[in-house]
Amino acid sequence: MKRIVLFLSLMFMAGFSACIPPSDTSKMVVHAGDVPLVIQPVEMDMGEVMEGKEARTTLILRNTGAFPVHVEKVTSSCGCTTASPETRELPPGTFTPLHVRVDTTAKRGRVKKRITVIDSQGRRTQAWLTLRVKSNPHMGAVRGKGIFSGKCASCHFDPAKGKVAGGSIYKAVCVMCHGKAGKGAYAPSLRGRNAAFMVSVLDKGLERQMPSFSRKKNGPLSREQIASVAKWLSELDE
Ligand code: HEC
Ligand code: HEC
Repeated sequence: MKRIVLFLSLMFMAGFSACIPPSDTSKMVVHAGDVPLVIQPVEMDMGEVMEGKEARTTLILRNTGAFPVHVEKVTSSCGCTTASPETRELPPGTFTPLHVRVDTTAKRGRVKKRITVIDSQGRRTQAWLTLRVKSNPHMGAVRGKGIFSGKCASCHFDPAKGKVAGGSIYKAVCVMCHGKAGKGAYAPSLRGRNAAFMVSVLDKGLERQMPSFSRKKNGPLSREQIASVAKWLSELDE
């Protein structure tokens, strides 16, 4: 019995030394279900950030359960966002800072990002970040190309390789901005546009954010792929 008490109090102390106090306890979430990990706060407004600058914040990852939890994986939908906990082992009742960074290259306006934490039993917990990206006059030259190079290419460039059918090209490299079936999301709806207009946008890109997808401009799509996705989109119901 003594041993157990000693063990528990040691864990308690170890937990405390790894933690910093939460900044706002009124926003604390008590989790009723059987997912012990919670991220606090669940929604975080990161404010206004200049395009191209990295936005950073620190959230709290807390084990509200009665047993130790191992953090298996931390993911986000866009590779432009990373979140890293200071420790992956969380004794019951403890918490660790979760450091978040968002690369705002090629973003504009209101952006919402989701972070998912998965524990060793596959249980998931999520939080959302919002930020407003202010346009940066010095980013003109790199805007657009930003999503096709480096670590961004694996999701925004490579998936188009070898795709022929318009719908599959769309799902590979357009859906993340324009939403399911061209209905609009972060970027506007593409319903009711004619194919020639879309071909010209895909060739040249647009002033603001829509990059040129043409291989001639280091984009991911051949002429045939551009024609194919433009045709597919133009044939969707309005
Ligand atoms: C792991 C795949 C992946 C990688 C890598 C990736 N993205 Fe994304 N990106 C997505 C997805 C999916 C979305 C759709 C929005 C979402 O769910 O976050 C997206 C959306 C975007 C958007 C639209 C605005 C927004 O944030 O919703 C921009 C701009 C963008 N990504 C830029 C980038 C840049 C710049 C990089 C490299 C620093 C990058 N992405 C790396 C998958 C990825
Ligand atoms: C990184 C996000 C992003 C991706 C990926 C993207 N777009 Fe766009 N697109 C935009 C934004 C934002 C606009 C609005 C104009 C602007 O800001 O440049 C736009 C505008 C357009 C327009 C002009 C719409 C109009 O009526 O003015 C077309 C057409 C278009 N996109 C087609 C596509 C196609 C097809 C793909 C895939 C091959 C694609 N886009 C991929 C962000 C994106």
